[in-house]
Amino acid sequence: MKVAIVYDSSTGKTKAAAEQMGEAARAAGHECSVESIHDADPAQVTKADAICVGSWCKGLFVILQRPTDEAMGFIERLGPLDGKPAAVFTTYALAVGKTLPKMAAALGARGARVTGQLKSKGPRVAEGFDSWLQTLET
Ligand SMILES: Cc1cc2nc3c(=O)[nH]c(=O)nc-3n(C[C@H](O)[C@H](O)[C@H](O)COP(=O)(O)O)c2cc1C
Repeated sequence: MKVAIVYDSSTGKTKAAAEQMGEAARAAGHECSVESIHDADPAQVTKADAICVGSWCKGLFVILQRPTDEAMGFIERLGPLDGKPAAVFTTYALAVGKTLPKMAAALGARGARVTGQLKSKGPRVAEGFDSWLQTLET
């Protein structure tokens, strides 16, 4: 499958996680692009067979956690996703709160079938990403 991973990263952890996830996707036999939401073209990302969107977790550490406005804005610029499989991920320090369901709901509103809500405490492949890859056809 063609997998598109896009991320919003402020200090580089989400970027590093996304790049490692891209390598894991390629190792599993997929074509995979990894781009910042600031560089990615929503129309191109919409064309992928499977989509993974990541954001760093922003809030007051134990309350009011959310994805970044930029990550949510990117999701809103995607075209109709017509049941394509999707995953969301976040990197965080303490607690993710509702960050993942907020991203999942926005992708679901574009028509994606969100089958993964994943998190990583640092610049590493999000937990469960390998299992999510296994749900995709190669
Ligand atoms: C302004 C600010 C708010 C943050 N809020 C939270 C939070 O509410 N919960 C949490 O677990 N981590 C929080 N963090 C930690 C970041 O989400 C975490 O370090 C993340 O991995 C940074 O990703 P990045 O390097 O891609 O920017 C916050 C960091 C900053 C700078």
